[in-house]
Amino acid sequence: MITKNVEKAINEQIKREEHSSRIYLAMASWAERNGFPGAANWLYAQTEEERIHMLKLVHYLNDRGGSAIIPALEAPAAKFKSLPDVFQQVLEHEEYISASINELYATCTKEKDFTSANYLQWYITEQIEEESSVRSILDQINLAGSERGGQFLMDKEFNAMAAAKRAAMALSGGANAVT
Ligand code: FEO
Repeated sequence: MITKNVEKAINEQIKREEHSSRIYLAMASWAERNGFPGAANWLYAQTEEERIHMLKLVHYLNDRGGSAIIPALEAPAAKFKSLPDVFQQVLEHEEYISASINELYATCTKEKDFTSANYLQWYITEQIEEESSVRSILDQINLAGSERGGQFLMDKEFNAMAAAKRAAMALSGGANAVT
């Protein structure tokens, strides 16, 4: 059985992960409309990945005897200044999510719920990869410069990264790899 405090904290993280998915969906749509099909491809893949993060927590909470609540969500931003602006926002959002996972972990240990804390190790490791990959993308975008040609070449790199992300999701069993 899970404590009410842990249940509440996991439900808050479910909301954050679902919101992340919608934020990246809005960014993907912007990139698709503004001539960055590769970046859009990566962001659509990221949308799917965040949905898996959300679903894993839904299954985990229900499996432990808690109640996973599907939340109402505010609309994400629809307009962005540029591709670097999009990925700067992705990085800041991932840093926020890392901090929120750490807080959730702290709640679990405070409640002596070491089973949940152990489960969250997967998310802690995942956040290292999430932040690192976005920092690397941002570096590459900045290196490509503001020239449209450079950004076009960079955009092609995104397709390979999106394919790798989708392959990793399939290998890990996606949202079915719950416990
Ligand atoms: Fe689920 Fe990108 O944090």
